[in-house]
This record gives sequence, structure tokens and C-alpha cells, in this order.
Amino acid sequence: MTTNEYLDHHRGRFEAELVEFLSIASISTDPDAAADVARCADWLASHLSGIGMPLVEVIPTPGHPIVYAERMDAGEGGPTVLFYGHYDVQPVDPLNLWSNPPFDPVIRDGKIYARGATDDKGQVFLHIKAIEAMLATEGRLPINIKLLIEGEEEIGSPNLAPFVKDNAAKLACDSVLVSDTSMFAPGQPSIVYSLRGMAYMQIDVQGPNRDLHSGSYGGAVQNPLNALATIIARLKDEHGHILVEGFYDDVKPLTEQERLDLAALGHSDERLKSDVDVSELFGEEGYSSIERLGARPTLDVNGLLGGFTGEGAKTVLPARAMAKVSMRLVPHQKHDDIANKFISYVQSIAPPGVTVQVQDLHGADPVLVERDSPVMHAATQALEETFSSPCRFTREGGSIPVVLLFDQVLRVPTVLMGFGLNNENAHSPDEHFDLSNFHTGMKAVTRYHHLLSGGGR
Ligand code: BES
Ligand code: ZN
Repeated sequence: MTTNEYLDHHRGRFEAELVEFLSIASISTDPDAAADVARCADWLASHLSGIGMPLVEVIPTPGHPIVYAERMDAGEGGPTVLFYGHYDVQPVDPLNLWSNPPFDPVIRDGKIYARGATDDKGQVFLHIKAIEAMLATEGRLPINIKLLIEGEEEIGSPNLAPFVKDNAAKLACDSVLVSDTSMFAPGQPSIVYSLRGMAYMQIDVQGPNRDLHSGSYGGAVQNPLNALATIIARLKDEHGHILVEGFYDDVKPLTEQERLDLAALGHSDERLKSDVDVSELFGEEGYSSIERLGARPTLDVNGLLGGFTGEGAKTVLPARAMAKVSMRLVPHQKHDDIANKFISYVQSIAPPGVTVQVQDLHGADPVLVERDSPVMHAATQALEETFSSPCRFTREGGSIPVVLLFDQVLRVPTVLMGFGLNNENAHSPDEHFDLSNFHTGMKAVTRYHHLLSGGGR
């Protein structure tokens, strides 16, 4: 049986196993889910042993464990790929908007619905099944493979960064392979060459020492919610321009060629509008949507808390208010620098009569990968042959914190070969993954490994 025949033959079992993987509620940000996150790591490790990975480790960290596995069939000095992915998932709220419980996966119309389906368990699992198929039909892998699958990507990879720095020799490789991004459109395989960075901030506004009657005190005491609204209103102007002082200092302007390349991808504003059901798009003036989505920085309020939000009306002047604000960064902005600029700016615009505290919760630096490298060419060829369609090169708006670190510590190129689709509801209700990309992705990955085996170091 050829590897592709094996992959076709076992489709049903692969889907059933993915259902099992997706049933584990590995929500990294939720302290109550820590046992499930650990259980997910164990499940993954025993699965990796089961398919024939001779070395499998569950490595504890101060947070959630890292799963590591390797198989060195090409021997010391042979071509080596480090695959990186994450088994943690985002929280599921609002739960009432899901058509099925998020950890009770359902297959409908060729798609599998569950939290983590596309981000990133489904994408991780297709690599594991590709490895299984090569081992089952060829008895060995064409190259050396190291797998690094973490449980903290969705919270900014706080413990993976020190692990990578301390274990550079263990992780030594010729290139990194990541599947945690999207294809430009269905049927159009894509390689992402840039990821945005992130600075995730929390603003806490403290007013009076307790909630007050808004009749007895209103008018004489600053209201923390009003103060917070004032701050938020001053973060961006009506043209979508971010007002944080010095925010754009390090933003590398787009070249004419990049603007032409992005325009040539054929992005459709009409499709985007109808996908998310809005009558008009909004973004930074002077830029197209495709530029705003991947190549320009952003600032968004992710959540607001404060005051009375129950049924009916309550006249109260709340004691405190809170906002979560994130900024997506582009080359060559730096997370630390932007976080500091944000803190100083928010303090400088804080209205009188309240205490404002700003915290930097986590962040990541943006990434730009070399497009012209042998591994990129191999990846392009593998995708084009498998999907029978030209490969697209895109800039992705999301962030994967550790990718820059691979570049800095391991000094090798990363290939961002994603099989998700942008409208698969990552981070939102009814997250799903197209099973045709799950299965075709496996074939693309086995082809990629075979192409690399011809290349050597
Ligand atoms: N898979 C995403 C990254 C991504 C997002 C790729 C959108 C392509 C499109 C990843 O799991 C993720 O969500 N990352 C977080 C990182 C953050 C918490 C530092 C993100 O981008 O919000
Ligand atoms: Zn992800």
C-alpha cells in the first residue's frame, strides 16, 4: 500500500481519533481546566508512542506541560525538521451560541465542529497522522523529525520561550514547520510569510472606595466607567489612526511592490462584509483591507467590565472599571517598547479623580520570514502538487509568539504551512475544521518530508 493509499484507507479512523483529541477541554487560560490540559498532554504523548515515535516526553513547566517527541531515521547529520504546534485552546464563551457543546465534537457537511478543531488540534493531528502513515507503509521516516507541541500558545507561550532558549541543542534542526495559520481561500494552499506581534494590556480604573448612590454622589465624584470611556476614546481617532505617542515610530512602510503583491491576491471586501455580516468595513484610512489585516498594526478593546449590567436599571456610581486592550504589531515594532509607550500614554490621558493602573499581560514580537529559501521552495512544491493549485504567499494578522524565537535561537527558517480557513471561527463559537483540508494536508505534509529528504543539510 502506498502512503497516500494508507491515508485514504484510514480516513474514518483518523476522524474518530481527532474527535477524541478534541473532546479534552484543554483551555490554557482557565485555572480550573489545568487537569484537563495535563490530561490532553498525556493523551497526545501516548498517541505519539502508539504510532511509533521512539522518544516521547511530557515535560513539566511552571505552567502547562510541553509534549516532545523525536525520531531520527535519517541519522545524525541528516535533514531534520522541528514541527511546532499547540494542544491548548481558547475559552468557549459565549457557550449559548454553540450549535453543539464545544467539547462534544460533531461532524456535519464535511466539517468537524469543536473548540480547537482548526486552532490548532486538527492541524497538529494531521501531522501526526502523516507520520503514522509514512511509518506504516515505508517503515521509516524520510527525514529526522522532532515534535514540539505546547500547551500555552493561547496565553502567549510564557514557559516555552525559556524552554527553547535552554534546549537549543536538543531542538537543533534545519528548519521549523508550523501549521497554525490559514489558507488564503478554499482550494488555495498558502504559506504565511509574516505574522503580527501582540501587546496585550489591562487597564484598571479605581474611583471611590465603594459603589455610590449616583444621586447622592453623582456630579461631585469622578465615575471610573466614564473615565475609562474617555481613555478608550483617546486611543484611536475617527480615521482609525492609533494615538499612542510614538506607536508608529518603528513601523516599516509597505513598499510599492508589497502593496501590488497583496492587491494581486484578489481579496474581496464584499465577501468579507457578507462573511461577518456588516454593512460597512472600517479600518485605518489610506490602506486596503488586505493591508489592514496583515501589514498594519491595530488596537482593539477585547473586553470591558464595570458597574451594573443586570436586568432593569440601577442608579449607581461604580467604584471601579476594567478594560482589556490588545494591539497587533507589525515589523519592526517591539512588544516591550509598545507596552511601555501604551502605559505612559494612558497615564498621561487619565482623567482626574481616579487611579489608573496599566499592566502588560503578555506579548509577542512580529515576524517576517525569508521567502526565498530551499525549504520554502520544497513547501511550495509539496502544496502545489498536492492541492493542484498555485501556492499563495500571505501575511497573517494573528500571532504565534514563539516563531521569532526559533529564528533567533535556532537560527533556521520557519515554514508556516497552514491548513485552516479564516472563516472557521477560531476563538469563537462553532469553531470547525474542513475535513478535506485535514486529509489533503496529510498528503501535502508527507510529500514535503520526502522532498526535504532529497535536500540534505
Ligand atoms: N492560530 C493562531 C494564530 C493565527 C491567528 C494564525 C489568526 C492565523 C490567523 C494562534 O493560536 C493564536 O490565536 N494566537 C494568539 C496569540 C496571542 C495570544 C499572543 C493570537 O493571535 O491571538
Ligand atoms: Zn493557534
